[in-house]
Amino acid sequence: MTAEEWSVADEPSIAEALLAWYDRHHRRLPWRMPPDLIRQGRRPDPYRVWLSEIMLQQTTVGAVKPYFEKFLERWPTVEALAAAETDDVMKAWAGLGYYSRARNLKKCAEAVVELHGGKFPDTEARLKDLPGIGDYTAAAIAAIAFNSPAAVVDGNVERVITRLRAIETPLPAAKPEIRAVVENLLPDARPGDFAQAMMDLGATICTPRRPSCILCPVAKDCAARALKAQERFPVKAPKADKPLRQGAAFIAVRSDGAVLLRQRPEKGLLGGMTEVPTSAWTARQDGERDISAAPFPGSWKSCGAVTHVFTHFALNLFVFRAEVPAIEAPAGHWWSRPAELHGEALPTVMKKAIEAAIPGATKARRP
Ligand code: ADE
Repeated sequence: MTAEEWSVADEPSIAEALLAWYDRHHRRLPWRMPPDLIRQGRRPDPYRVWLSEIMLQQTTVGAVKPYFEKFLERWPTVEALAAAETDDVMKAWAGLGYYSRARNLKKCAEAVVELHGGKFPDTEARLKDLPGIGDYTAAAIAAIAFNSPAAVVDGNVERVITRLRAIETPLPAAKPEIRAVVENLLPDARPGDFAQAMMDLGATICTPRRPSCILCPVAKDCAARALKAQERFPVKAPKADKPLRQGAAFIAVRSDGAVLLRQRPEKGLLGGMTEVPTSAWTARQDGERDISAAPFPGSWKSCGAVTHVFTHFALNLFVFRAEVPAIEAPAGHWWSRPAELHGEALPTVMKKAIEAAIPGATKARRP
């Protein structure tokens, strides 16, 4: 097909083609009600939809599945989650990243129970009043759980739409244009399945590199394909490099193998999560990244450095280890024995630092 032969198809036929494809090729996901059951009038449990959408923010489907199943087994209802200890929720979340999501998850469960009698509200506007639910999540829950005609636009959908219409405006400026296209495509029936079909198309066919256009149900309608320029979309504004910060982490090990831990401040990055003592993480090249920043004197030995990339900066953490006598843990600190360490609310960067000093320490142990 040449660019001249390509023309904009009428919107209903695009939604129809996409839904027919979804009926046959949807991904089977633990939080999803498959389309044959939706057609019989069933709806997914809003609690499962909400939980999955919060977990899926900034995280892949593959990484989320085991966490989703663990949460559901432990807290099968929003009431159960609302009654949980925040610390247990943080521990169960450890490793999923972006920890303010876990804190808001618990607050949101409490609000649903206290303000809505345990039932999630069914409109975007009222969902957005709940902690941790922004524009995207409100639209996703309204569409998937309640079949509302909401325009659900995540990164996958942005890619599909910018290709379908060859939108030259770079992201993020293109967002309103993308939303307008999605609103036009929305079918009257099955808006929930339509939202999930767009996500699945983006995740499995309309991939960032080498999209499988041969298998795409809307390939004949795709402007980027007609231009043979699929990978040029979405156009992105040039990205500034992330600044680099550095710091030092100190793994104090008692003779029984216990490691000294403390809690990070409630507010800010990794708020309320567990860490080993560290220096401040500074952008200064002459900042503290050696044993001068140690929490107490000791025979600190270097275990190399670990790197972790956060949203707004990359961190080089220089790791030191010392064997220490069985001292009292200083105020706000505690000793965590080898059998307990994997259950602590340690974010990934802290697991990396501990692993650099004590290989295997953060993995679950056999009893
Ligand atoms: N990514 C975000 N939400 C999703 C969902 N409901 N299904 C599949 N992928 C998703």
